[in-house]
Amino acid sequence: GTGPATGLLARLRDQARARLDPVHWDFFEGGADGERAVAENEAAFRRLALLPRVLRGSGPARTTVDLPGAPDTLPVVVAPTAFHKLAHPAGEAATARAAAAAGAVLTTSMASTTAVGEVAAAARAVRPEAAVWFQLYLQPEPAVTRELVRRAEAAGCTALVVTVDSPVFGRRARDDRNRFHDLPPGYAAENMRDLPGGPPGSTRPIAMSPALSWADLAALRAATRLPVLVKGVLHPEDARIAVAEGVAGVVVSNHGGRQLDAAPAALEALPAVADAVAGRVPVLLDGGVRSGADVVTALALGATAVGVGRPVLWGLAADGERGAARVLAELREQTAHVLTLCGSADCAGVTRDQVVRRGGQAP
Ligand code: FNR
Repeated sequence: GTGPATGLLARLRDQARARLDPVHWDFFEGGADGERAVAENEAAFRRLALLPRVLRGSGPARTTVDLPGAPDTLPVVVAPTAFHKLAHPAGEAATARAAAAAGAVLTTSMASTTAVGEVAAAARAVRPEAAVWFQLYLQPEPAVTRELVRRAEAAGCTALVVTVDSPVFGRRARDDRNRFHDLPPGYAAENMRDLPGGPPGSTRPIAMSPALSWADLAALRAATRLPVLVKGVLHPEDARIAVAEGVAGVVVSNHGGRQLDAAPAALEALPAVADAVAGRVPVLLDGGVRSGADVVTALALGATAVGVGRPVLWGLAADGERGAARVLAELREQTAHVLTLCGSADCAGVTRDQVVRRGGQAP
């Protein structure tokens, strides 16, 4: 590999690449258009360094945080990613068990190859209090969205994560080149089965719509008692609106570089969003997190937690549940270690002044 993942994560990534059908590897690894946003997500972390504080008597760092519907959880959340059965036949159930064992929230994708009820049950079989969030694209037909929410609630999901950065599908050059547009026979987006207005027994395609607005988000909030986070916010004004609308959390993300290729690195958008939110709700960041130092850098710049997408898929593809669990355990241990080296007692104890640009100035 050539990317910045090191050690265990890099080894699992290389194993995943060796094992996977190259078309599926490209689906997981690729981004939109020229893949600039993908590259920037990781590069932004490499441009920054951490200034440790010393002699603070902090003791070993505590690495849990409180998130909506997930008290006392790892500050590393599994970001929603589609089609885990393409990574490993055990699919989302294996990811769910790995996340539950690590004490990490699993955000299960609307585009999963396992139905949300089965995913959540797999997590709870490992740890009864395991938190599973359901990621949702608001559908143009409200009855479809309502049915998906009902299924997530019935499954025992503890929050909804509404992805708002996808008014249209991103253009994925690799998928176009590979003509990857359909799941192989036997696999389907199981949450989309038997929905209102759809063909009985089969699945509806996931729709994306540029007509959606804050009013649709308000309608969703009115239709559920679950906390609603919005995922894919980069502009601080959108973060302000989201908080005013009553969201329970904001996820700073450029969708792993898979939507707007001209978007900045998620990390670069984080400080302004954190300022706009001003501690009123948790701010999460995903995109390019590949180490405990990356986690701590995001925490210092105002995130309460981070999401990881591709690294979990690498673990899953390399070694199923065990590989995904190793990725999360490694990130947990690295995070605790880096926090302690930075002189912090917990995830909230690292501050923006501890992040410097390599070369000298503040970010
Ligand atoms: C994603 N992502 C994503 N996001 C979402 O809201 N719903 C989804 O179904 C998917 N599917 C998906 C598939 C694959 C293969 C990838 C790589 C990503 C985006 C994901 O939640 C997250 O924003 C990024 O993956 C974070 O970047 P890293 O950690 O992969 O660098």
